[in-house]
Amino acid sequence: ASAHGVYALWLNGKRVDSRRLAPETTPYESLLYYQIYDLKPFLQEGENTLRVLLADGWWIGRIGLTGHSCQYGDRLGFLGQLELSYSDGTADTIVTDSSFESRPSHICYADLFMGEKWDMTAASAPWTPCTVAGAADATLTVQPIAPIGAWTTLDPVAVMTTPNGELVADFGQCLAGVVELRLSCPAGTAVTLDHSETLDTEGNFFRNILGRNKDQQDTVICGEGETAFCPEFTYHGFRYVRISGASREQVLSIRALVIGTPLEELGSFSCSDGLLTQLQGNIRRSTRSNMVSVPTDCPQREKMGWTGDIQVFVPTGSFNYDLSGFLGAWLGQMRLSQTEDGGIPIIIPTYPAQTAMQLKTNGGNTSSAWSDACVLVPWQLYKMYGDKQVLRDNLPMMEKWMDYIAAASHDYLWTEGYHFGDWLIPSFQDDIEGGTKATAPVIAACQYAVTTAALIEVLEALGEKDKVEQYRNLLYTIRKAICRKFVREDGTIEGGTQGLYVMVLHSGAVEGELAKKVAARLAEKIAQNDGALDTGFVSTPHLLNVLMDNGYEDLAWQLLMRTESPSWLYQVVCGATTIWENWNAIRPDGTVTASSYNHYSLGSVGSWMYRHIGGLHPVEAGWRTMEFAPAFRCVDSAQCSHLTPYGLAACSWKKGENGIEIEVQVPHGVTAWLRVGEEKRPLTAGKHTFTI
Ligand code: BGC
Repeated sequence: ASAHGVYALWLNGKRVDSRRLAPETTPYESLLYYQIYDLKPFLQEGENTLRVLLADGWWIGRIGLTGHSCQYGDRLGFLGQLELSYSDGTADTIVTDSSFESRPSHICYADLFMGEKWDMTAASAPWTPCTVAGAADATLTVQPIAPIGAWTTLDPVAVMTTPNGELVADFGQCLAGVVELRLSCPAGTAVTLDHSETLDTEGNFFRNILGRNKDQQDTVICGEGETAFCPEFTYHGFRYVRISGASREQVLSIRALVIGTPLEELGSFSCSDGLLTQLQGNIRRSTRSNMVSVPTDCPQREKMGWTGDIQVFVPTGSFNYDLSGFLGAWLGQMRLSQTEDGGIPIIIPTYPAQTAMQLKTNGGNTSSAWSDACVLVPWQLYKMYGDKQVLRDNLPMMEKWMDYIAAASHDYLWTEGYHFGDWLIPSFQDDIEGGTKATAPVIAACQYAVTTAALIEVLEALGEKDKVEQYRNLLYTIRKAICRKFVREDGTIEGGTQGLYVMVLHSGAVEGELAKKVAARLAEKIAQNDGALDTGFVSTPHLLNVLMDNGYEDLAWQLLMRTESPSWLYQVVCGATTIWENWNAIRPDGTVTASSYNHYSLGSVGSWMYRHIGGLHPVEAGWRTMEFAPAFRCVDSAQCSHLTPYGLAACSWKKGENGIEIEVQVPHGVTAWLRVGEEKRPLTAGKHTFTI
């Protein structure tokens, strides 16, 4: 089965599967997933009735940032093929055609962003024959990833009356999902659910997502007796839900269904500092909320496969969860979306209205650090999981993209096209465009070097020796060009935000004495900023690494442990349960802003925490060689593990009276050592304990 729109199937009154939002989102112009169901368990003697519920979804619904409807088409369609094999060896095929009938259902509308409305009092409409639609252009492919589903449920931690007298349920954490209700209201009562991720300063319901067609509102018009309501064809990003139209007593039950693509857990992390443990927990919740068919930026405002977000986040996401198949399929969509000239759209799948807006406002649909995901995501997946197939599958796309950058560059500096720069820097929080302008040239130049360096590792892994040489020469020249153009002899960078210093260091453009000077300037800038970071999306993942690598280890820990704004732990102290899009989504003066409270990108620090607190370092791709090297800083104990392709790697340590007790678990088939200071102690497979 597949659809233009989203569908759910019943046979003889029984739902054949618990999946949601099939056939999910793909670049519909070229690719449409289909699903296969075994209907045998639902068959009955005599007549059998197949029922399909069909709704707008991504095909017709008001999707993306622009909120335009009908971006792919204005008619819903369902395609089904029933294959019947009889016990006498004969077979039949029934394909959807004009002998099927349709009618409006109890669902008045269903939209991924606006929400869903049911009318349980509506009289049944008459059946009319279906119209046969023209053949779709897209290739039909069986869905390659696990289906979206409700993978857990949450009871509210409180159902309360807020100071302004509204009934609000609190689920205790931000999530992607829907609210399921049982109501006892007179027939005809309209009960409305509004969703939000935060309350305001007074503790009242606050709509944190604004914009065209972003209502996030579900309504049910109750029928006779008890009404059970659970939206089928939408999902929202929320922690709080406001219930209007019913009293507390009329709400017989309420719970949240947490929705997403199921992911296998690979990592675990905890330490003696509750705030840091909570931070990694928040990172994990944001991961779960945003792996919904494709890696999305947020589960409320945009729900789109922003390439830059997953590019910065994949090292962390892949520590916590197995993202190989999920992102492998998404990269397949990216390959289909690459333009003739090699351009990689900044969002995959890219929606037509979104692309048009991007072309109009930015003059292009690519950006450094975003489109670079086509190289950096497969490379990171390879480093974490060790499977070269993801490199082979995507190499042609990567090379075409590198040619695109080369064509957009002058004197080896990436000057053409639109660039988001170091997106969302705290000091530019009221002038986002200003932040983009101030940082785009250096970010684009440095990112070119970073991506080229990653490509070299990809080519080395694939044994493409000639190409390795070619790209090494290119990298050398790019680095020289960055240095010449942007870095002064005293290590300063003109107009340099912290992020630019980070990216120049991370790009490898400066070495030796000059690198020392650049790092010293970065440290000065942090000191001048009251000891706080001031980095955006692109540079944040590299901030602590470049400080460590350049002799500023104390400063790196100081930034991590800081609890004043802006910092990672500031969010936690403010009560965040997922990662905020903006460092100051709740301002230090308490102002609650209308932003996303569930954006994983700034959670990119998660992998640093695994490596330096937990001590787990993948040295060779796929953990064939691994180092255990906890830093033993700032916390008293930590327990951390990751299920590598070779088995479980785990490290736990605790400061005690006689020193630090450390236990490591080494999987079979790897080369491993424990590093203590300069000393490397070789480790065999199995569990080992040491006191240091
Ligand atoms: C999205 C991001 C995205 C960015 C592009 C935002 O509106 O939510 O996460 O990467 O735009 O700069």
